[in-house]
Amino acid sequence: MTKLWIGRTSGLTDRKADDFNSSVRFDSRMYREDIEGSAAHAEMLAKQGIIPADAAEQIIAGLHSILKDLDEGVLEIDPEAEDIHMFVESVLTERIGEAGRMLHTARSRNDQVANDLRMYLKKEIRSLTGLTVKLIEVLNEQAEKYTGAVMPGYTHLQRAQPVFFSQHLLAYEMMFLRDLSRLKDTYVRTDESVIGTCALAGTTYPTDRKFEADLLGFSSVSLNSMDSVSDRDFCIELLGDLSILMMHLSRLSEEILLWTSWEFRFIELSDAFTTGSSIMPQKKNSDMAELVRGKTGRVYGDLMSLLTVMKGLPLAYNKDMQEDKEPVFDAVDTAKMCLDITAEMIGSMTVHADRMKQAAQEGYLNATDLADYLCTKGMPFRSAYQLSGRIVRDCMEKGIPLEAVPLADYRSYDPSFDEDIYEAIDLVNCADRRNSFGGTSKESAGMQIRAVKEKLNEFRNRDER
Ligand code: ARG
Repeated sequence: MTKLWIGRTSGLTDRKADDFNSSVRFDSRMYREDIEGSAAHAEMLAKQGIIPADAAEQIIAGLHSILKDLDEGVLEIDPEAEDIHMFVESVLTERIGEAGRMLHTARSRNDQVANDLRMYLKKEIRSLTGLTVKLIEVLNEQAEKYTGAVMPGYTHLQRAQPVFFSQHLLAYEMMFLRDLSRLKDTYVRTDESVIGTCALAGTTYPTDRKFEADLLGFSSVSLNSMDSVSDRDFCIELLGDLSILMMHLSRLSEEILLWTSWEFRFIELSDAFTTGSSIMPQKKNSDMAELVRGKTGRVYGDLMSLLTVMKGLPLAYNKDMQEDKEPVFDAVDTAKMCLDITAEMIGSMTVHADRMKQAAQEGYLNATDLADYLCTKGMPFRSAYQLSGRIVRDCMEKGIPLEAVPLADYRSYDPSFDEDIYEAIDLVNCADRRNSFGGTSKESAGMQIRAVKEKLNEFRNRDER
């Protein structure tokens, strides 16, 4: 493919240098944005009288034919091309002749590539938010279904206090809601048009950047040309958002792995999302959750690589910045797959509420409630705490739960014990009495579930506008 930039140099580059320089392998996925961007550019140039109207018509028709042929697979992207921008422009000129040579007036590949990437990532952010919403919905349905299913809540991975499964799932919903809001913020800063800032300094042509931005559906126009061609904050922000999102998915995966282990057996994943072992016939492995946990590492790596690429770059465009696309694309693809597979796993899991309850019954999770009970009878908390500790120690020696201690024995510890102690230390009651705002109680779970639904509705309404 002939080089469009032969000017000062002969263009007789080494083949290895051409391969090394080329980005078409990965930037060809932006062909639609590149073509739509070019069509808008031609329209703006004609409106401003910079190129003749009939030339713009030929350019736009030619670009549409290229888009159609690429979509239908009739036209193949030349792997020898330097990048997608060069490829489209040279095919256009082959197809329509002289008029094609007018397209690159009042722009540069530096503003073009940044604008293409912004357009491309705006779509990807929308699909990421769609998948995040889906995951939250699935979690919310399970939280609704298992409101009142008691399980051990942990601190330091030691059984701590009884909670309802709904509370545990809702905790993850809160994380993913924050991810959603971060993605939405990043969208705002991605949604800014930089086309028309040219190589670095703007242009002498009487362009209308606002008009071109409107044609392409951008909400705002960047203010400084040098910043416009050298800014990749929007990519780094997205990578940051996705790193945090993956961290959340990875924590949830870790829980899934614990819960599906033989030691816990709190849930069972559908066969559709597990694998067997090639040697051990009894095995059912939660490979998908392990892979989500593992893929988190590569998304962090993507963030680190782009931060490192950018850290020493002087203004304005530098070729180093061609290294932006692979990590961003990789992180987006990875996060989309992980969101999707996690939603499927959670939606199709079987919950063993009986096992969760049984686990909650072992480990004296109601010891705090025993102390609280004594407080309601007038004992100061610190004394109640100490007495409860003594009772738990005695029970552990006998190998019995707090519920199995006869009332007479309780009374020998303290005369204020009454028949109502059994109700006070009943596990479901213990969880349900934690009715402080945001607590684990059924009422609080109901409040949270409704709030999540409202937030998702708000999000959808805003997204449709
Ligand atoms: N392929 C390049 C990139 O991805 C396009 C911009 C090239 N600009 C230049 N002046 N060589 O960054």
